Amino acid sequence: MSLSVAMKEGSAAEHDAAEQSPFLTELLNGRVAASGYVDYLLRLRIVYGALEDAVRARRDDPVVAAVYDPVLERLPAIDADLDHWAPGIAREVDSPAAQAYRERLTGITWGPALVAHHYTRYLGDLSGGQAMGKILDREFGLRGAGLAFYDFPVRVKPYKDAYRARLDGLGLNGEEIGRTVDEVKVAFALNQALFDELAESLPLHRR
Ligand code: HEM
Repeated sequence: MSLSVAMKEGSAAEHDAAEQSPFLTELLNGRVAASGYVDYLLRLRIVYGALEDAVRARRDDPVVAAVYDPVLERLPAIDADLDHWAPGIAREVDSPAAQAYRERLTGITWGPALVAHHYTRYLGDLSGGQAMGKILDREFGLRGAGLAFYDFPVRVKPYKDAYRARLDGLGLNGEEIGRTVDEVKVAFALNQALFDELAESLPLHRR
């Protein structure tokens, strides 16, 4: 099985669970206040900061080079969105889940494991994330403002196809593919923990 198919199929159950996480479903049903979305952005800021640092630091590794693309970087977009949603807010947030995610990312020493995290976030942002941006736009009446996070300067469908082709061109063997899929599952679990943490404070962010 090719790497891209193994990654997708190997994380299908985790993906279904993520889609059903209460924080996301409440947010997309318009039942979370802006303050709850800000909490989410603050956590994403930690995750993308760590992911983008790690990827940049290892971009000479041919495996990481296959996915490295500065146009994907979300940290500037997250900062721009925070300026819109919560002007002047402190960027620090006490989030054990985001910290655990960051620690996992900073500890990675094997290129394909980093690719697993890259895939989980960016291909997600280029897939369900695109729908999420449209829903938030409607729910919060944003008219496109504060949604830089979802705005990639690429044509999504061809980009994702080319990305999968690059994954499949890496030539990983069966054992390496298995280890990479395991790390995709770890990445999904870290995202799930982030959503679980956010769900705990939903009562504070009712709308
Ligand atoms: C409301 C929540 C979500 C919805 C509605 C959603 C929806 C989707 C859809 C429809 C696709 C398929 C797109 C396509 O085939 O081109 C997809 C792909 C994907 N999603 Fe999500 N998603 C959600 C949450 C997440 C989360 C939380 C993550 C991980 C952090 C994630 C990661 C991914 C990945 C990695 C893919 C690419 C699968 C592949 O083609 O290999 N998604 N999502």
